[in-house]
Amino acid sequence: MSINVCEIIAADAQNVARACDILASGGLVAFPTETVYGLGADAESDAAVEAIYRAKGRPAHNPLIVHLADATLLSRYAEVNGMAAELAQIFWPGPLTLVLPRKADGKASTRVSAGGNTIALRVPRHPVAHALLTQFGRGIAAPSANRSGRISPTSAVHVQEEFAGAEHPPAVILEGGDTEVGIESTVVDCTGTRPVILRAGTITAEQIAAIVSLATESALGDETLRSPGMLASHYAPQTPVRLNATHIEPDEALLAFGTTTLHAPTMRNLSPTASLEEAAHNLYAYLRSLDAAQCKRIAVMPIPQRGVGVAINDRLGRAAAPH
Ligand code: TXA
Ligand code: MG
Repeated sequence: MSINVCEIIAADAQNVARACDILASGGLVAFPTETVYGLGADAESDAAVEAIYRAKGRPAHNPLIVHLADATLLSRYAEVNGMAAELAQIFWPGPLTLVLPRKADGKASTRVSAGGNTIALRVPRHPVAHALLTQFGRGIAAPSANRSGRISPTSAVHVQEEFAGAEHPPAVILEGGDTEVGIESTVVDCTGTRPVILRAGTITAEQIAAIVSLATESALGDETLRSPGMLASHYAPQTPVRLNATHIEPDEALLAFGTTTLHAPTMRNLSPTASLEEAAHNLYAYLRSLDAAQCKRIAVMPIPQRGVGVAINDRLGRAAAPH
């Protein structure tokens, strides 16, 4: 008996058209973005969006990001304000998600908002995502294409592994190579008078604050309320993770950063030259490969808490949380 393996198809014009047909008939298509692969469905269909939750085993209270070909579609789904328009102008297409009030009588399924009155939107810059979104012509709801709580996929093969033998796999996976950025988009709540960062990403707080000053009171206290997806345990390998490692214990795998004298039989270096961007790019693929080695634990060297390091440490903290 062979297990269910989802097909990876080249992202040529014919297959992009096929993917659009699948989406239009309520099916699921996995596709690359510059951050991680997404599991896409027609954002205007309740049944299609419901299928995403089923396929991922995602809790019903965790809302989804709607992906757009360009910013002109924003007003189809959301009430746009000045700060959102400004951030969109500067950072789109790119790894930034804006949370806005849902448009009254907007076209998006209420399921993308998990019943709430806000909606998250983003314009990705990956050419395959752009081709798919342009041809589909409306929003595509897409969480990262992993089973709920696991590491986000940064290659088509990762998506295939996530859904091997799954009851509700995507119909196809569009091939788009290894993703460039490697970690999920920065999520910014623009429903108040000042923006609040709900999830750190490679577009940093400093970069956003240079455009519109951030809310002084960080929303950390009610973060779980405002961004229900930001659970403590998330992005997690099966192997336990030990952070800020300055030594190695027997049977530990090592996730190194920068120049180091630490060694383990199973090890990867996120960036030998200590580039935080390179480390973000490699983070999930290396966590996956160290997880597959089935060591006792994954020991991770300290990552500087500046720039993109803030987002990397956020993900590592969740990977290390008890689950
Ligand atoms: O880079 C990314 O953002 C990737 C690619 C595929 O675009 N997508 C992604 O989706 O990471 P997901 O579902 O894995 O994470 C979306 C995050 C979750 O933490 C969710 O709670 C939050 O965005 N979110 C979505 N809609 C929201 C809303 N209306 N209000 C607050 N947070 C929201
Ligand atoms: Mg995710």
